[in-house]
Amino acid sequence: MMRLDRFLSGQTALSRREIGEAVRRARVTVNGAAVRSPDLKINPETDRVTLDGKPVCYAEYHYFLLHKPAGVLTAARDRSQKTVMDLLKPEDRLPGLFPCGRLDKDTSGLLLITDDGALSHRLLSPKHHITKYYLAQLRDPYDTAYEALFRSGMALREGSGEEICLPAECQGIGPHLAVVALCEGKYHQVRRMFAAAGNFVEKLLRFQLGALEMPANLAQGAYLTILPKDVEMMLKTSSISLAAAFCSVNYSSYWINERAHLW
Ligand code: URA
Repeated sequence: MMRLDRFLSGQTALSRREIGEAVRRARVTVNGAAVRSPDLKINPETDRVTLDGKPVCYAEYHYFLLHKPAGVLTAARDRSQKTVMDLLKPEDRLPGLFPCGRLDKDTSGLLLITDDGALSHRLLSPKHHITKYYLAQLRDPYDTAYEALFRSGMALREGSGEEICLPAECQGIGPHLAVVALCEGKYHQVRRMFAAAGNFVEKLLRFQLGALEMPANLAQGAYLTILPKDVEMMLKTSSISLAAAFCSVNYSSYWINERAHLW
């Protein structure tokens, strides 16, 4: 059992004060009857709650799969710049949401936003080695020599020393398009790997995490509510060849078709 006001504060974007007011003004019903006391005990699994006539569904945790556009910061908040949280509709800005993992400001693609701290910890833990799949648009033509180089565990310059990468995979899907699979996330890693190989990443998209693909019809800046079983797909394995095939079909014309500021 749970207090009605606690239930509403976990499932809506209303503040405690707004919840108290909504209840007092009979905007909230439980099992069809208007209620006036915010401390009423309800069973979140079985009781039917509405706010302004709309059902308030219960989920212990929330998961949003966002297609992050380039130019937006991966952060819970920022004083001056637009963040991924600003892309959520006001009613979806639930307390405790944060981006799980990070994409550079200039990178677009698949990003999970959730309030499930334990799951986020699992997904980000190096122990799980979740493979992240990227599509890179390269300034200079793709060279099959990158494949052995990436597999060897590259050394990237880092200040006065160097960082050694875990073995990574790479496959060309067009003259200037490469699919890259990484199971770690060093700072600007894909860009730095291609720079160390003598090329330059002009644009970067993350299209898959583990076995969870970003749906091809999800526009930049748009997002979907997904379920724990979808999130679990991130913990499943895929392969560079499957990911490259998916990417070729769905994303190889990603930047050709790009229309600025679709979101
Ligand atoms: N590698 C990068 O260079 N940028 C990202 O956002 C992710 C991986």
